[in-house]
Amino acid sequence: MTQERAVAAANEEAVRAWDTVLYERWKSNRKVFVGALGEVTEVVFELFPPPECGCCIDIGCGFGETTQQLAVLVGPGGFALGTDSSPRFIEDARREAVEAGVENVAFETADAQTAEWDPIYDYAFSRMGTQFFAAPVPAMRAIRGALKPGGRLAKVCWRRKAESPFWAETEQVVERFLSRPDEYEADTCGPGPFSLGNPETTRGILQAAGYDQIELHPRDFDYFMGADMDEAIDSLLAIGPGAELIRLNGEYGESRRGEIAAALRDHYAAWQKPDGSIVGRGAVWIVAATNPG
Ligand SMILES: C[S@@+](CC[C@H](N)C(=O)[O-])C[C@H]1O[C@@H](n2cnc3c(N)ncnc32)[C@H](O)[C@@H]1O
Repeated sequence: MTQERAVAAANEEAVRAWDTVLYERWKSNRKVFVGALGEVTEVVFELFPPPECGCCIDIGCGFGETTQQLAVLVGPGGFALGTDSSPRFIEDARREAVEAGVENVAFETADAQTAEWDPIYDYAFSRMGTQFFAAPVPAMRAIRGALKPGGRLAKVCWRRKAESPFWAETEQVVERFLSRPDEYEADTCGPGPFSLGNPETTRGILQAAGYDQIELHPRDFDYFMGADMDEAIDSLLAIGPGAELIRLNGEYGESRRGEIAAALRDHYAAWQKPDGSIVGRGAVWIVAATNPG
């Protein structure tokens, strides 16, 4: 159980963004985002499986797909708690778990940076949910606080943006039309998806948060951008560095969306497969660490 605590002041903007515009965009492009991460998720569970009958916590669980997977992996004798700072994600996650008939799960709203979990978990997992904390060391320490001594952390995060060409090149195309404004009204997603790209940064955060046996494994995988060009462009302009540039530019950014989409179509035409789908390469860290107690 968590003691209910407020969102950290420094996380308020990112938490608001994830509960509003980013929630809506993640939801409408969910098939692409979640589907594209399926393969790498399986790799994490193969390399670092949760223990049978274990107690798991899923940080930044979104719609809770991975929470449900954890619940199935640990079996009916185990349990999985999905946590996310966004009440809207958690509301959907709860409903979907009930609809799926998965009983050994629960969900709660919590900012990982301020949460105080009891140390009852064998396994803490996160898929792309730990890059958005304003203060990553206290947040990773709070997650360690949820683990029993010897409990394991296993998570996935993006490597540097330049290592996933579909992110970097999308941003470059958008930059032909827009630059980052000095001032903007849009809420940003905090440090952002690539904040753990530097392995020394990620290792240093985990060391400072008190973990040991820290391992970072690079993994490259086919990132399914869309079943056709329309789906790929929609998802690239929904979330990610190119999408963020449009958002930060407000109405002016929106006024250029059509031209940007056309330029992206030209750019990615060479990537299109005979079946019409667009597939890029993604680059992530699979990170494991242990709570020494
Ligand atoms: C990129 S999404 C990943 C969602 C999910 N893990 C998945 O793979 O489908 C990032 C998630 O982290 C959550 N998040 C952002 N800041 C958070 C915080 N401070 N504490 C807990 N969750 C946070 C967001 O609400 C969002 O659901």
